[in-house]
Amino acid sequence: MADLDPWRISVAPMMDCTDRHCRYFLRLLSPHVRLYSEMVTAAAIVRGDPERLLRFSPAEHPLALQLGGSDPELLAMAVRKAAACGYDEINLNVGCPSSRVSEGSFGACLMAEPALVGRCVSAMQAATHLPVTVKTRIGIDDRDDYGFLQAFVASVAAVGCRTFVIHARKALLSGLSPKENREIPPLLYATVYRLKADFPELRILLNGGVEALTAIEGHLAAGVDGVMIGRKAYADPYWLTEVEAAFLDPGGMWQRPSRSGVVRAMARYAEREMREGLRLHHITRHMLGLYHGQPGARAWRRHLSTRACAADAGPGLLLESLQMVPDE
Ligand SMILES: Cc1cc2nc3c(=O)[nH]c(=O)nc-3n(C[C@H](O)[C@H](O)[C@H](O)COP(=O)(O)O)c2cc1C
Repeated sequence: MADLDPWRISVAPMMDCTDRHCRYFLRLLSPHVRLYSEMVTAAAIVRGDPERLLRFSPAEHPLALQLGGSDPELLAMAVRKAAACGYDEINLNVGCPSSRVSEGSFGACLMAEPALVGRCVSAMQAATHLPVTVKTRIGIDDRDDYGFLQAFVASVAAVGCRTFVIHARKALLSGLSPKENREIPPLLYATVYRLKADFPELRILLNGGVEALTAIEGHLAAGVDGVMIGRKAYADPYWLTEVEAAFLDPGGMWQRPSRSGVVRAMARYAEREMREGLRLHHITRHMLGLYHGQPGARAWRRHLSTRACAADAGPGLLLESLQMVPDE
């Protein structure tokens, strides 16, 4: 793996999706894809329950924590706690358009304040030796000309940020829900390619709407350093085995796991986790797409999603579920 960029392929931060159970599951499907946590606010880490918020399994590496916030000091405090837990990267969210987030003055609205983002990144860098990266959009509201994005990236790069994830659509800060903001503004991949051409020294990762191996291939061929995949990885996680084989296993030595093997591994994981009081559903809810497109997928999904919520549901339910799908 020495010659592959560690950021070549990643799974996007997704609230309510990429928690530690989801990441453990995804790791079984791709040993090398880079994983990102859900966004956690710096305030929650500093003032809340950092142990619960930052906990993860060593199997999840390489793993980035995504932070939300715009107070340099608070972000630095959160970074110190996260670095002590062993994350591989700290990412700052400058792309989330939710109104709740904008009122707190972080997320995508920060694109309009590059100097503040620069101060945040500086403070975060001073608190750790880990790479501090930024995830952003190509613009916000009517500030969607290329010059705006270019100036933002130049300003944040000037304080030493070397890696940017660019969601290739702008965000509309009022009038669209977060979901609509992931669907309605058009994807403009050429803007991300241009950014890479203008900043060859930076690592530029493209995100948004990537759902096929050929698309990944095309983006890498266009010059970006890596591709980040969100919804497709959650909806059809077994597809990550194809991504691993095609883009992360240059030696071609990796043996793709079977779906049933993954289910069995997750049953063992659930058994360990449930000893600490966790409910089965918290784990299995992330697995519902595993048989996506396969015979029996609907029945499997229904079985897991309805029964795993029962108070007495145990890891055996996962093994039982294998009867609903063909043997692999
Ligand atoms: C359910 C959901 C939650 C998300 N939460 C976050 C988040 O916490 N932080 C973030 O930067 N982006 C978040 N996103 C945006 C994704 O990281 C990604 O930028 C977006 O989905 C576009 O990529 P895709 O088309 O491959 O899904 C979220 C997306 C989804 C679908």
